[in-house]
Amino acid sequence: MGSLTISNVTKTFGSTEVLKGINIDIADGEFLILVGPSGCGKSTLMNTIAGLEEVTTGQLLLAGEDVTERSPKDRDIAMVFQSYALYPTMNVARNISFGLEMRGVPKAERDQRVQEVSTLLQINHLLDRKPSQLSGGQRQRVAMGRALARSPRVYLFDEPLSNLDAKLRVEMRTEIKKLHKRLGTTIVYVTHDQIEAMTLADRIAVMKDGVVQQLGTPNEIYDNPANQFVAGFMGSPPMNFVPCEVNSDGSLAIDTSGHSLSLMIPQSSTLKAQNIHRVILGLRPEMLTEPKPERVGDSVMALEMDFDVTEPMGADTIAIGEWNGIEILARLSPEAGLRAGKKTPVQVDLSKVILFEPESGERIR
Ligand SMILES: Nc1ncnc2c1ncn2[C@@H]1O[C@H](COP(=O)(O)OP(=O)(O)O)[C@@H](O)[C@H]1O
Ligand SMILES: [Mg+2]
Repeated sequence: MGSLTISNVTKTFGSTEVLKGINIDIADGEFLILVGPSGCGKSTLMNTIAGLEEVTTGQLLLAGEDVTERSPKDRDIAMVFQSYALYPTMNVARNISFGLEMRGVPKAERDQRVQEVSTLLQINHLLDRKPSQLSGGQRQRVAMGRALARSPRVYLFDEPLSNLDAKLRVEMRTEIKKLHKRLGTTIVYVTHDQIEAMTLADRIAVMKDGVVQQLGTPNEIYDNPANQFVAGFMGSPPMNFVPCEVNSDGSLAIDTSGHSLSLMIPQSSTLKAQNIHRVILGLRPEMLTEPKPERVGDSVMALEMDFDVTEPMGADTIAIGEWNGIEILARLSPEAGLRAGKKTPVQVDLSKVILFEPESGERIR
């Protein structure tokens, strides 16, 4: 069993509080992903889980046992770092088995684990090579093999793919996903790659400034972000944020290329009662598309837009227009008939619009 409970964990370096009371309950077998901007405390949190850093306050429970005071080797946790250092003088097999050797695992068992792990990672043919004779991706697999050779209760991965080129990242991402399916071991995984986060995670914790902003499934985070930070962090191209005045009937006033629109969205009707006069409208680019007859209904509004710039991306085209003086991205089909300087018919799906409070960035529901 490898459930992990992070309870009110704080970490202070000097006078700087880097973790400000982290609470995350990770179920046995769960794949939890930590995302957040550089410097927000992800690695610090991983290091405290591994025991490489002491917590300042708080508690860590592994399978219900308090491990807060335990040394790293007594935690039954294996970690793969962003910059993995393989032992340069040892061949791949020895690199994988060395940790087991240090733990006094007998040779026959070590050899068996090396065979299993190298089959899993498809590196059997590399076992006799030295790290210098490997490509970046192969080294990365060896580093992972070293962690996988053990059967810990929890794996910690801190940006394990960030040194790889784009193609390898995608391949390794798929392999990690398969690995997790097969092994079913609890994983805590840090990435700044939101596609990695969306595709791998059972749940995602979005961090900012040492605080978990939201913890939820990829779909919850994407469709129901708790605040403007989370909404802007996940999604590529990012969500559009348009400052709007609220009209007296509760609709939102939009000016697009000198042409006025009133967007009456589902939440609009309560804005007046809440005495809210200005909001930030959040709209993902894929909610602003060419007209799609199958989606026409109450929540869909047809309009025309001028687009200045278009960026063909293959499957779809990103078109840049303007609402209330802000650049707004639409995600259109390449067949949408876009022409510079010519009005293009589009539709906006108002059911997916999200509103934020302009000062705090908190969600208005
Ligand atoms: N050992 C340390 N001593 C002092 N400050 C540190 C130490 N480790 C990390 N920090 C600071 O803590 C903050 C969070 O760092 P880190 O956890 O590495 O962020 P992330 O992994 O999210 O990029 C940063 O401001 C960093 O400078
Ligand atoms: Mg880090």
